[in-house]
Amino acid sequence: MERVLVLNGPNLGRLGVREPEIYGSASMADLQESARAWGSALDLTVDVRQTDDESELVGWLHEAVDARAHVVLNPAAFTHYSYAVRDAAAQVTTSGLLLVEVHLSNPAAREAFRSHSVVGAVATGTIAGFGFDSYRLALEALAARLRG
Ligand code: DQA
Repeated sequence: MERVLVLNGPNLGRLGVREPEIYGSASMADLQESARAWGSALDLTVDVRQTDDESELVGWLHEAVDARAHVVLNPAAFTHYSYAVRDAAAQVTTSGLLLVEVHLSNPAAREAFRSHSVVGAVATGTIAGFGFDSYRLALEALAARLRG
């Protein structure tokens, strides 16, 4: 079974509490449960993690390369300025693995600073604006690409 790391950046551990009108009322634990279930229906082994720490996120991206795991990545605020996360994400896709950038909200419809992603150019593709369904759609897109 193909392995997928579903990696989440800063403040996403506060899902359910943080700005629920933007991010919804469900928690990271709920996302973990849903993503695992979506993964198993798609024959993917899904490992969902969250960190507020840039170096930990970079380390997990290195781990994905070494373990030959595909990635669904919500870099959260790192999306907009972290060249370290971008360079680590680039190692995933240049090593022939898939990386889907996801966002719960649609950053393009929000404050101007959110309209640019430094990660997008090195991702296989991006899905934004569908809440938890952004992750479901990302896993489906990965599974379809792996089958195809
Ligand atoms: C986010 C959008 C980012 O702009 C923001 O910093 C986040 C969450 C999203 O999932 O909508 O923390 O990545």
